[in-house]
Amino acid sequence: MMPAVVCYDQRRRRGEELIEPRDDLDYSENFLWMAFGEEAAPEVVDAFRVSIILYSEHSFNASTFTGRVITSTLADLHSAVVGAIGALKGPLHGGANEAVMHTFEELGIRKDESAEDAEKRSKEWMDKALAEKKKVMGFGHRVYKHGDSRVPTMQDALFRMLDYYDRPEILGLYNGLAKSMDEAKSIKPNLDYPAGPTYWLMGFDIPTFTPIFVCARITGWTAHIMEQRAANSLIRPLSEYDGPEERHLD
Ligand SMILES: CC(C)(COP(=O)(O)OP(=O)(O)OC[C@H]1O[C@@H](n2cnc3c(N)ncnc32)[C@H](O)[C@@H]1OP(=O)(O)O)[C@@H](O)C(=O)NCCC(=O)NCCS
Repeated sequence: MMPAVVCYDQRRRRGEELIEPRDDLDYSENFLWMAFGEEAAPEVVDAFRVSIILYSEHSFNASTFTGRVITSTLADLHSAVVGAIGALKGPLHGGANEAVMHTFEELGIRKDESAEDAEKRSKEWMDKALAEKKKVMGFGHRVYKHGDSRVPTMQDALFRMLDYYDRPEILGLYNGLAKSMDEAKSIKPNLDYPAGPTYWLMGFDIPTFTPIFVCARITGWTAHIMEQRAANSLIRPLSEYDGPEERHLD
C-alpha cells in the first residue's frame, strides 16, 4: 500500500486525480504509473528499479536500529515502522536525497547552460560552502570512509537518465560538486547524491523523494523487526558519565 499512499500524496498536492494501482504491472512500473498516470519508458522503469533495490536494505543504519529498539520493547510492527520513518526523515539520513536537490536548486538549474559552465559554477559553490564550513548533504558516510559501494550502480542509472532526458547541465552540476568535494576533503558521495537528481529528472516532486526511500526501506525494516522478534531481548544501552566528580556540601 505504501507506493499508493506516496503517489496519492504527490497527486493530491498537485491537485491531480488519484490513479488506481494496476496488478498487471510490476512494482516499479506500477509506482510510476500511479505517480504520473502514464506507462513509463523501460529506461525510466529500470533506473527507478535500481534505486528501489539499492535503498531496500542496509544493515544497522539509524532508522533500522530505531525500528529494532522499538520492537525490542514488544511494541507492535506499525509503531516500529513509524519510529523508523521518523529517523529516516532527518537530513543526515534519508532526508539527504531531498537536500541534494535543494542544493542544485540553490545553485540554479539553467536548462541551456553547457555541462562545462555548470561544472565550473558548482565547483565555485562547493569551494565557498566548504570555506564557510557548511555540511553538504549527499556526501560522506558514517561507515564508508572511502566511498559508498552503492554509488557506482546508482550513478550509472543517473547517467542513463541524464542521456535519456538530455540534461547535460545537470551532469555538470553533479560532477562539479563531487570533484570539488573530493579535491578539498576527499569525501565521496553517498547513495542519496545520485538518487536525488534521478527522481527529479523522472518528474517527482522533491518532498516525495524520502517517502520513496521509505517505500523501499520498509522491506529491510520489517525483515529486521521479524528477526528481532524471533530472538528478542530489550535493547537498553548504558551511557558513560563524563560530568563533574562527586561533590559534597560543606
Ligand atoms: C553521514 C555523516 C553524518 C557521517 O558523519 P561522520 O561519520 O561524523 O563524518 P566524518 O567523521 O567522516 O567526518 C570527517 C570530517 O568531514 C566532514 N564532513 C563529513 N561529511 C561532510 C559533508 N557532507 N559536508 C561537509 N563536510 C563533511 C566532517 O565535518 C568532519 O570534518 P572535521 O574533521 O573538520 O570536523 C556526514 O558525512 C554527513 O552529515 N553527511 C551529509 C548528510 C548525508 O548525506 N547523509 C546521508 C548519509 S547516507
